Amino acid sequence: MTKEQLMEVAREAKKNAYKPYSNFAVGAALLLQDGTVFKGVNVENVSFGATNCAERTAIFTAIADGYKKDDFRAIAIAGDTEDFLSPCSICRQVLVEFCSPEMPVYLTNGKNEILTVTLEQLVPYAFTKLEM
Ligand code: THU
Repeated sequence: MTKEQLMEVAREAKKNAYKPYSNFAVGAALLLQDGTVFKGVNVENVSFGATNCAERTAIFTAIADGYKKDDFRAIAIAGDTEDFLSPCSICRQVLVEFCSPEMPVYLTNGKNEILTVTLEQLVPYAFTKLEM
């Protein structure tokens, strides 16, 4: 699957976002090593802190389906922003938990351009272990 195809899945998923409070729809498409693709959307809550972002929804769905750390090949994220929409820091930390530093993260903007960054570029000096 190409990055353009993966981004198209993220764009499609965005339509299912539950965003009554922000009206800011986000879709994510997570590509697994075996070719499976999981979608994610933001799911908001009247208690704002209970909101789940699209990226975490996709990762958590894959984990619930039995996939493990390092089964992940790439993630595409789509919103309706003019500039490239980049994952929030909580989602970055969740990505770090399950994905390799080299994993590509595809971002898109209002011109439908795709920017590819690695997870390590998004999260340099990541917090990854509890050992001292
Ligand atoms: N949101 C995401 O789902 N992913 C991002 O990368 C940025 C933010 C959601 C959370 C909330 O529902 C809305 O966008 C506004 O912050």
